[in-house]
Parts: sequence; structure tokens; C-alpha cells
Amino acid sequence: MSSDTLERIRLCGAVPQHVAVIMDGNGRWAVQRGLPRHAGHRQGMNAVREAVEGARQAGVEVLTLFAFSTENWQRPSSEIGALMGLLRLYAEKEKRELKRQGVEVHVLGELHRLDEGTRKSVDAIVEGTRGGEAMRLNLMISYSGREELLRAVRALARDAAAGRLDPESIDDEVLEGRLFTAGLPDPDLLIRTSGELRISNFLLWQLAYTEIHVTPVLWPEFTREHLFDAVLDYQGRERRFGRVTAGEG
Ligand code: IPE
Ligand code: IPE
Ligand code: MG
Repeated sequence: MSSDTLERIRLCGAVPQHVAVIMDGNGRWAVQRGLPRHAGHRQGMNAVREAVEGARQAGVEVLTLFAFSTENWQRPSSEIGALMGLLRLYAEKEKRELKRQGVEVHVLGELHRLDEGTRKSVDAIVEGTRGGEAMRLNLMISYSGREELLRAVRALARDAAAGRLDPESIDDEVLEGRLFTAGLPDPDLLIRTSGELRISNFLLWQLAYTEIHVTPVLWPEFTREHLFDAVLDYQGRERRFGRVTAGEG
């Protein structure tokens, strides 16, 4: 399975090591077709498959997908039920194929809020894909960037109060060690679908210097070609990290 865009990505050099995605627009996709919102979420599963395979083909090492936010618990219970059902279906249906592709799945977030059945399916896909070396896939479920930082701060404060941690030793690395993404590089590229220009409480610490690509495409219509386009866009960026361009100083 090759594409011209994939060939161009190879020629352009550095592929983003870590790509994060805010998968948005399922509801609008359904409403545009006179369908219930859950039909959009169901269709969105195909896009997840496309994104995973495309990222692996492009040579991305870590793909982090925002699938359900802490704030999404405030949606109608019927929609939450449909989303949890799809998560179980995805975990059960895709486990073997992801293992075969060498994709190691991690599910990160406030997982104690999931119902028992969903929790079991999630544990099974994590267990069943452990050790995959082609790519790491993080599914962010019941995740909030602020809550992640609060958890980290609470854990550090507990250690300091117990005398196990010198507050002066707290630096980027120490804090990062307490985040769900501990041990991973920060995302190089963030993709958001459906044209919304906001972060929506995703990876607040980790996105400090991430390149952002927003596409108007609604998530259910997202294909690997859209992912390749985002990577090409990224490859044309100049990442300065607050410094000046080489040779300008
Ligand atoms: C993204 O699509 C999926 C989740 C947030 C779970 P939405 O459901 O937010 O779709 P829109 O933004 O209403 O179109
Ligand atoms: C962000 O999308 C969360 C996920 C993609 C899981 P939302 O649709 O929930 O975000 P807002 O409400 O547009 O900011
Ligand atoms: Mg949305």
C-alpha cells in the first residue's frame, strides 16, 4: 500500500516522532446526514484505523489519540453509552490486528470512571498488544490535561510532605515522570479535525512547543492521506523553540 504522499514524506526527511490527534467532528458529520450522533462515532472508528495504519506507514513512533475527555462525561448518558460501547467494540475487534502490526496500545486517563465491562476490554487490549515494537498507540480516555497536572502535583506534594522529595529538585523531568506520558517525547505534531482552533484541555504541559495542524475535515472522513498531508505540512515548518533561525544570529 503506497501513496505518492508517502514517497514525498520519505524524501522530506524528519518524520514527527510523536503525533497527537484531537479527533473531532463526529456529531456534525452525523447531523449533516440526518443521522443520530452515535452514527458519527461509529463511522469515526474507521478513521481511527486509518490514522493508526497511516502513522505506522509514515514511520511515526508514538500516536496519541484523544478519544474521550473528562468534560465529555457531561454529555447525555445515551451518547456516553454509545461511545463506551464503541470503545469496547474497538478493543475487542482490533486487538489481534494491532498485535499483528506490532502496535502496543496504552489506554490513559481516569480509567476508574469506566464501567467494569469497558475496563475489562481496555485491560485486554493493553495486555494483548504488550511488547509491540512498530508503534505505540496511546488512547486517551476520560482524560483532562488539567486533571493530569493536578494528579502530578498532588503526588509530588505528598512525597515532599513525607520527606521523600526535596521541593528544590522538582524540574521538568521530575514533573514529566508523574504524567500519563512519562518516558515519551512531547508531541512534535498536533492534528485537530473539524476546523476548531482550540486545545480543549488536551496535553497542556506536553504541547508547549508542538506544531499544530488544523484541518476542516470531520473525523469520520479522515483518512491516512490526511495524516500524510499533516506530516508534510509539519516537515515544512521551522521549529525554533524560542531561539533565532540558524545563521541569523
Ligand atoms: C469527537 O466528535 C468525538 C468525541 C469528542 C468523543 P464530537 O462528538 O465532539 O463531534 P462534534 O464536535 O459535536 O461534531
Ligand atoms: C475534544 O473534543 C475531546 C475529544 C476529541 C475527545 P470536544 O468536541 O469534546 O471539544 P470542544 O467541546 O469542541 O472543545
Ligand atoms: Mg466536538
